[in-house]
Amino acid sequence: MAEVVIVPDRETAGEIAADLVASLIRSRPDAVLGLATGSTPLPVYTALRRRLAGTDVSRVRGFALDEYVGIDLAHPESYRSVITREVVEPLGLTPSLVQVPDGSLEGAGSAGERYEAAIAAAGGVDLQLLGIGSNGHIGFNEPGSSLASRTRMKTLAEQTRRDNARFFPSIDDVPVWCITQGIGTILEARHLVLLAFGESKAAAVAGAVEGPVTASLPGSAIQLHPRTTVLVDEAAASRLRYAEYYRWAFRNKPA
Ligand code: GLP
Repeated sequence: MAEVVIVPDRETAGEIAADLVASLIRSRPDAVLGLATGSTPLPVYTALRRRLAGTDVSRVRGFALDEYVGIDLAHPESYRSVITREVVEPLGLTPSLVQVPDGSLEGAGSAGERYEAAIAAAGGVDLQLLGIGSNGHIGFNEPGSSLASRTRMKTLAEQTRRDNARFFPSIDDVPVWCITQGIGTILEARHLVLLAFGESKAAAVAGAVEGPVTASLPGSAIQLHPRTTVLVDEAAASRLRYAEYYRWAFRNKPA
């Protein structure tokens, strides 16, 4: 079962996740991080700036979960731009060691295989940060995605395009296609850390943590992983059936 930690606010979740990432990097200076975009992981990256001040991060490697297809790389909302702006630059990571799937129209068809090979060559992902879509997607694996899927091109769900329209001038500017690590790819990371905040995520979180494992709710694949930490605020936890048990278990966690 995932370890579910219910926190008062997103800043606290960011601190806890940043502790996990920072202690990984201290024990393994060339750690491989799985990096998520969207608004959810931002408190983690903010907390990491303080945590990692003075730590040599020049050998840390990273792989983003996903990218839009057909977006100009220089567009501020391309995930390449977001990862550079929110992670690589503020944390002082070595840019060439942080990869984002190739979302160019020419490259996207073969990008999945190349990305899988790059992750394998790095020895796999040590810690994968994850958000979750309001429809239960992880990465850009929309409902119906195979639980065994690998990095590939996908078509975004209308719900996801509506959710992400806030980052673009209008919904018509949100790309239709994406390239995403598959659910099978994500499950090979050695530690999954999923974060979710707000009422709009409550149903997806309940389905992911306590629902049946189903391709209809891709986040439920975390139940197949032996080491998952779920960090949620009260609103995102509001539909969890066993919330009291999670609180009790966390209070009584063995040192
Ligand atoms: C986006 C990303 C996901 C992210 C999710 C939630 O579309 N591809 O990786 O987890 O949707 O986004 P947010 O964190 O902004 O709610």
